[in-house]
Amino acid sequence: MGNDKLAHDLFEAARDASAKCHAPYSKFPVGAALRTEDGSIHAGANIEVISFPEGWCAETTAISHMIMAGHTRIREVAVFAPKLDFCSPCGGCRQRLAEFSAPDTLVYLCDAEGVKKTVRMDELLPYAFETEVIG
Ligand code: THU
Repeated sequence: MGNDKLAHDLFEAARDASAKCHAPYSKFPVGAALRTEDGSIHAGANIEVISFPEGWCAETTAISHMIMAGHTRIREVAVFAPKLDFCSPCGGCRQRLAEFSAPDTLVYLCDAEGVKKTVRMDELLPYAFETEVIG
C-alpha cells in the first residue's frame, strides 16, 4: 500500500476539520491533520477575526491541538482546502510545521477525493531557518 492510501485517515481528518473553520471573511475553509510519533491524529481549521491579520491557519490550529495533547513530533501531515485542487501550506506554516518535523516528514496536499501530491518537509521548506545559537 502506498503512502497516499495509508494517509487516507489523515485526509479524512483534515477534510472534517475544514468543515469546522471560522472563515466568514475569506469564505475559504482549510483543514489540516497531523499524525504524531505515537500514531495519534490532531486536526484543526483556519480561524479568522475581523481584524484580518489576527487570524491564523488550519496548520497552526492543528499544531496547537498536538502540543496541548502533549506531543511535539510530527510524522506526517495532510492539508485540505475544498476550493483548491490541492492546498500547499503558506510560508509561515511551513516554518511552524518544520519546528516539529523531521526533514523526511511527509506532507500530503489533498484535493476533494484524497491525497493528490506528497512532498517531504525539506522539499516544502528548503534551507529552513535553524541555528544552535538560540536556545
Ligand atoms: N490558510 C490556511 O489555513 N492554511 C494555509 O496554508 C493557507 C491559508 C487560510 C488562512 C485564511 O483563513 C484563508 O486560508 C485564506 O487565506
